[in-house]
Amino acid sequence: MTIDVETLRTWLEEGRPVMVLDVRPAAERAEWAIPGSLHVNAYDALRARDPAALAGVDVPSDQPVVTVCAAGKTSQIAAEQLAARGVEAMSLLGGMKAWSLAWNAAEVPIRGSSVRVIQVRRTGKGCLSYLIGAGEEAFVIDASLDSQVYLDLARSHGWQITSVFDTHIHADHLSRSRQLAERSGAMLFLPEQQRVSFPFMAMRDGDTYATPQVMLTALRTPGHTPESTCYLLNNTILFSGDTLFPTSIGRPDLHANSQEARARSALLYHSLHKLLALPSVTLVLPGHASQPVPFDGVPVGARLVEIDEQVGLLRVTQAVFVETLVQRLPPTPPNYERITRFNEAGILPDHEVTELEAGANRCAIS
Ligand SMILES: [Fe+2]
Repeated sequence: MTIDVETLRTWLEEGRPVMVLDVRPAAERAEWAIPGSLHVNAYDALRARDPAALAGVDVPSDQPVVTVCAAGKTSQIAAEQLAARGVEAMSLLGGMKAWSLAWNAAEVPIRGSSVRVIQVRRTGKGCLSYLIGAGEEAFVIDASLDSQVYLDLARSHGWQITSVFDTHIHADHLSRSRQLAERSGAMLFLPEQQRVSFPFMAMRDGDTYATPQVMLTALRTPGHTPESTCYLLNNTILFSGDTLFPTSIGRPDLHANSQEARARSALLYHSLHKLLALPSVTLVLPGHASQPVPFDGVPVGARLVEIDEQVGLLRVTQAVFVETLVQRLPPTPPNYERITRFNEAGILPDHEVTELEAGANRCAIS
């Protein structure tokens, strides 16, 4: 009668037929949802144990139904009602709270190179991390999932993780990079800064880190955060962190007041124009998606030229840019101060992870 997150996400990634039925109130669903799920507005009726709560739902006879709510209680009632109708129904254990850690992967097609790039997407929060593999070794950028996910993926490709990078000190999710570096024996690279209180290898503007097949170049791009850094792979692929997205730009993070937000916005303006000076065919792979990432195997990313055409804010003057950003600043991510403190201390508080990271992603300004 129940199914866990790992099983459901594997089914979705394998394309196995399953109907996901979301029974949360519409306002909660609007925040974030499981890609491809259907919604039924039956929350109150289910809570009231109305036996006809799901009477109007057309369920398939040839595939199982997974019911979903916020924490896995109301969905249990829904699954019981469907089961009473003879439907193979299961409730998602832990609900959307647990789904926060669900992920899928997409390989980035790269022509004429033995280097492979796999985008690992934490679908609910939209956090995008990367596994760059060549020969027998792999790099990881912006690890946002449990270390085991990256260790297993690397092993399945015959890679050993040797280096782990973060593009910035994250405020919306707990970085798993330090833990991954410890577990894999990899080196930990962070942008040069004085914020974290644990040892790391510092990447400064223009620094490169190279193996025989992979060269990563650090491009310092302050704005989203003071230390934000993009990494350029073999001069062709840009891991842009939370600085530049396919259809939007980063937000100045954690500003104390509007004056600081203005200063950060001005820095971001210069950083974005530094990126725009790269070859227009550069493939930009961001650190976040704005929507829950589908289980479609299609990487989230765009060529620099496409982004330049899409994002009008890249073509306005600095003054207009700064004013527009200050006015459009979205609310700060939930729990961002505590998450930032943990990331600065390099601590992963296992028992609190889902509480701290709850909620949708709010990293971009469009
Ligand atoms: Fe960020």
